[in-house]
Amino acid sequence: MLLDTYGRVATDLRVSLTDRCNLRCTYCMPEEGLQWLGKSDLLSDDEIVRLIRIAVTRLGITEVRFTGGEPLLRPGLVGIVERCAALEPRPRMSLTTNGIGLKRTAQALKAAGLDRVNVSLDTLRPDVFKTLTRRDRHRDVIDGMAAAREAGLTPVKVNAVLMPGLNDDEAPDLLAWAVENAYELRFIEQMPLDAQHGWKREGMITAGDILRSLRTRFTLTEEGADERGSAPAERWLVDGGPATVGVIASVTRPFCGACDRTRLTADGQVRTCLFATEESDLRAALRSGQPDEEIARLWKVAMWGKKAGSGLDDPSFLQPDRPMSAIGG
Ligand code: GTP
Ligand code: 5AD
Ligand code: SF4
Repeated sequence: MLLDTYGRVATDLRVSLTDRCNLRCTYCMPEEGLQWLGKSDLLSDDEIVRLIRIAVTRLGITEVRFTGGEPLLRPGLVGIVERCAALEPRPRMSLTTNGIGLKRTAQALKAAGLDRVNVSLDTLRPDVFKTLTRRDRHRDVIDGMAAAREAGLTPVKVNAVLMPGLNDDEAPDLLAWAVENAYELRFIEQMPLDAQHGWKREGMITAGDILRSLRTRFTLTEEGADERGSAPAERWLVDGGPATVGVIASVTRPFCGACDRTRLTADGQVRTCLFATEESDLRAALRSGQPDEEIARLWKVAMWGKKAGSGLDDPSFLQPDRPMSAIGG
């Protein structure tokens, strides 16, 4: 069991499969991209499957989330999913993606055993998409989401980040569109995890702003706390339901007390939190021939260092060295 000193138990493992991405979202990375990890830095497919097997069979992980960068850029993804689906007990598996590659891969991922996907989409306007992501791929994302829904990778959840002056007027339109298409929309408060270190609290759109904007067009009723569990998203029923809308308010309504997550970076480091300042090197342990017991022990020790929260409200808060794209959302 992955227990921390605050009594929380991690049952949800987020695995970053690559730090690369084919978009350049302004709240994430600069136009020129980043210094990507080299091939030998990355865990191999076998190493990833081994770590997930250890997590599932020895450490009580029941949910595995594949992230990036953009996880669909990882050539071995379908094979990794297939091998994880054969584990006993079988973990639930999901993928968080920018959606571009889904049209091509949704059927194969479903057949391999993936349960569902979350897709990032911040705007319904192709021109705004191009400004926000610096790539002209809006159509590919929309088509990718439809392909995921048709393949049964459901519920398809949609993640939207609102940026002042760009798409902050779009919340009601995005929700109307999501409800019509049977997607579960969630708005995410912008977090200080961009590679450029450009985040400013005063500049961000808050959960309060988002709810105010949605209520100009919809009636929202809060879902009970029982339904939320340890999910980052707080949810509201839209016009009485069954459709819902979520807000992931890491900054203004943090949810660290119920956190059930542990993270693995594409280069094999355990992070206990998005905002962790320390990492534990499982890749070195793997490559020096340590047995499963020892790797499981190192992972448990790492969790022992998990902090109470993100520290975002501490005057001494420092943004982690790794940006979001290299941590794995
Ligand atoms: P599901 O709703 O179960 O699909 O999970 P999720 O919302 O955690 O998944 P997703 O990968 O779509 O993440 C949505 C947003 O939540 C991203 O911006 C993540 O960075 C953020 N998020 C996920 N886990 C954490 C966490 O432990 N802490 C914080 N602050 N944000 C998180
Ligand atoms: N703050 C909040 N959300 C972010 N994402 C990427 N960078 C940030 C950030 N700085 C979102 C992506 C994706 C999810 C994994 O996190 O849009 O939907
Ligand atoms: Fe790529 Fe996601 Fe970063 Fe956008 S937010 S550049 S889709 S990793």
